[in-house]
Amino acid sequence: MDRTAQLTARPVARDIAYDPPPAADSLHVKAARVLEDNWTGTSTVPSCSLYPHQWSWDSAFIAIGLRHVSPLRAQTELETLLDAQWGDGRIPHIVFNPSVPLDAYFPSPDFWRSSTAGRAAGAPRTVQTSGIVQPPVHALAAWLVHRADPGLSRARGFLTRMYPRLAAWHRYLLHRRDLGAGGLASVVHPWEQGMDNSPCWDAPLSRVTPAPARSFRRADLDHGAAEDRPTDLDYGRYVRLATDYRDGGYADGPGDFAVEDPAFNALLIASEHALAEIARELGATGTARHARAERLTAALIERLWDPAEGMFFCRDVRSEGRSDGPGGGRTGGPAAGELIPERSVSGLVPLLLPALPRDIAAALVRTLGGPHFGLGGTTRLVPSYDLLGEAFEPHRYWRGPAWFNTSWLLERGLRLHGERGRADALRRAILHTADASGFAEYVSPYTGDACGATGFSWTAALTLDLLHDHPAWDTTAVRELKGGDRG
Ligand code: SER
Repeated sequence: MDRTAQLTARPVARDIAYDPPPAADSLHVKAARVLEDNWTGTSTVPSCSLYPHQWSWDSAFIAIGLRHVSPLRAQTELETLLDAQWGDGRIPHIVFNPSVPLDAYFPSPDFWRSSTAGRAAGAPRTVQTSGIVQPPVHALAAWLVHRADPGLSRARGFLTRMYPRLAAWHRYLLHRRDLGAGGLASVVHPWEQGMDNSPCWDAPLSRVTPAPARSFRRADLDHGAAEDRPTDLDYGRYVRLATDYRDGGYADGPGDFAVEDPAFNALLIASEHALAEIARELGATGTARHARAERLTAALIERLWDPAEGMFFCRDVRSEGRSDGPGGGRTGGPAAGELIPERSVSGLVPLLLPALPRDIAAALVRTLGGPHFGLGGTTRLVPSYDLLGEAFEPHRYWRGPAWFNTSWLLERGLRLHGERGRADALRRAILHTADASGFAEYVSPYTGDACGATGFSWTAALTLDLLHDHPAWDTTAVRELKGGDRG
């Protein structure tokens, strides 16, 4: 069967317009309850079962939703995370809760050994963390949290305390992580980009010798179905990369894996724009930061945009190749590497950037609705990976299922670029699917069936955000959610 025939043979997403819309009031209560259940007193776990500590980009998304329930808790969420920042500016991807047993999650604090192995990089002594990072959503979150209650924020000096830490975080990424020498940040582990087992990593990971299966015990399989999770071979490679990074004192540069990712860098750019707004709030002009964000947008296009495919691709900085990559991607300096020919939702996320040229935004919208992602046709939320890709699996973690954070980011992007109808439809689909799936971690893109954990914090948080915050989410739309309008 050819690829197009395969697509048409796949199930068609049920038309959400025929589902009764969830009542906004009760959806709010249910989502707020998830965040309440997952609150530890100083931060929110992503999931009580699968992820029992504090995760970096989860906390940023959680704070964005939590601000509608408790601006104080939202500020505290980010403050707790930033209290664990390292001296070199990195924000660790996990902050460990010392009261959780070591075997509840792998890799545990005794694997990362942050306070000893990370000493030269300035790891904190009083709290245990991982040594890798996650996407920089934090300045964007801090700005949105501030705006939810500026009086409280000013009274507590929230932004005054956050700003230097967020600036140090961006400095770390732009200076220590420019491993491709092209002005973008590289990730040094798939967990850093957040889409752990995306097919984008298959080629760069194939050069990594896996750690022996018997040298570690996966805790995730105690809580999640093996067929929904990454494979053991992937895990062996994750462990090898993390071990080597740790054993090198968490110094950046020498590792086997270095990739420039479009979503990671787009979130850095969006956060740089937010940092400019924070600087303005604190009395500066913010002009230099906005200008830097625009230069980064230009670098993103130069390094990762593929005009023939109408989307962005990852660049494998460590690849031996110096070719043009798929569809004529350009090469840069000595560490140009190659574009990775896999279509991931990551390559659509730059739609959230305000300085994106109009033709690129239009091409991304077309790709989102085209056969590879199917939005508005075969899929109800945005799949994490190419529906027509050889590696597509509708239930396995980041190899096909739809996640709520990426759909939320694309909803923002669509609205920003004037695609109100598509944005409204995606918003409705997110709200329906979150409600129907019990706030699932991720879902089948075709049916919305739950995968992974339920009661997942960022799903609940971003549901709250879509219910409460949107300039264009006018009273008619809220009435539609509350009432019985099937349209
Ligand atoms: N997402 C990874 C996990 O599943 C690491 O953050 O544990």
